Amino acid sequence: MLAGKRILLIIAGGIAAYKSLDLIRRLMDRGVTVRCILTKAGAEFVTPLSVSALSGEKVYQDLFDLTDEADMGHIRLSREADLVVVAPATADLMAKMAGGHANDLASTALLATDKPVLIAPAMNVEMWGHPATQRNAATLAADGITLVGPAAGDLACGEVGQGRMVEVPDLIAAIEERLGRTIKDLPLAGKKALVTSGPTREAIDPVRYLSNHSSGKQGHAIAAALAAAGAETTLVTGPTSEPDPLGVSVVNIESAREMLAACEAALPCDIAICAAAVADWRIAEEAGSKMKKNGGSPPSLAMVENPDILATLSQASKNRPALVVGFAAETNDLIDNATKKRARKQCDWIVANDVSSGTGTFGGDENTVHLLTDEGVEDWPRSSKAAVASQLTARIAAKLAGTDA
Ligand code: CTP
Repeated sequence: MLAGKRILLIIAGGIAAYKSLDLIRRLMDRGVTVRCILTKAGAEFVTPLSVSALSGEKVYQDLFDLTDEADMGHIRLSREADLVVVAPATADLMAKMAGGHANDLASTALLATDKPVLIAPAMNVEMWGHPATQRNAATLAADGITLVGPAAGDLACGEVGQGRMVEVPDLIAAIEERLGRTIKDLPLAGKKALVTSGPTREAIDPVRYLSNHSSGKQGHAIAAALAAAGAETTLVTGPTSEPDPLGVSVVNIESAREMLAACEAALPCDIAICAAAVADWRIAEEAGSKMKKNGGSPPSLAMVENPDILATLSQASKNRPALVVGFAAETNDLIDNATKKRARKQCDWIVANDVSSGTGTFGGDENTVHLLTDEGVEDWPRSSKAAVASQLTARIAAKLAGTDA
């Protein structure tokens, strides 16, 4: 259940920091992406090099590191995770968290996060038992933070008692339990979603094809947003240079017919979103070997229509998804054409966007869309494709929950 999840691991300064190196490996074995913040004191116990070598990612250490802020600010660092784990959590860091301090990268990320936080305290038995630490632990628990341990036993300082960081398998079990609860709380938990994205390629011969300029950015952003909202998401995509979205199962196809077969294989599902720019036609007879010039006149290529995936899903008599959403890419009479397209294909919603040259929609990072539903047309402000994806996901969640207007 941890596969595809993202964890921000904060390693504070305690002898138990060595266990965090093992934790990184065990999490990665389970398909988790682990990003690490190492505090100044943490770096006295484990080196940044070992942390980055194990996590395969840059280690974040300094709040005021301008490079970090340019390519990964502390806010993004704390938000782009499903869970924040502090292991080991020292008495000092717990005190900062309880007091709402933000004077280094770890405490700032913890204050800025909107994600659940799990901490594994580790310290001397007297430090743990001190009323100040107990007060802080109670405050953190009341703030909704999950505390795991500490366990009792021999402590590194030579004393015996409660203060050891829990062992890695116990920490992983607690992380699974906490993430499980998080997933259950997500708005699309328990729903299955299917998204098409990118262009299709229709072969002319073994070396040539017909295709279009679709970048896949909007479709991939939608798949990422649905998965982040808890939907079990399958993305069926033509060739793009977009990275696979985290937590999404990706099926790579080339032709429209392959896309249709992959979509049908992904049924039944609750939500289908067709954002792919499917080639309308394919070559009637693909040449089995490379077509040669041979000094003659250029070939004339007979074409046949491709299956319409959106219409097929919308009109399926068996396994029709509860909500089918199409896109309308138009260069003129946007709303009029999109309205007709919605009626013709019988999908529930259409996201209409203007793709005429000069709009920058094809291949760009922004989109201006209009949502066509039974209730009418909504004009959404121009925004990033990621923001369009989140807004669409929120609308879908409200629709399926029956709480939309
Ligand atoms: N679509 C599809 N399969 C096709 C063609 C289109 O699933 N063979 C889907 C697209 O993913 C999109 C919607 O249909 O969600 C509309 O695509 P668009 O290219 O705007 O429309 P067309 O069906 O190609 O109609 P036209 O060429 O007349 O504009």
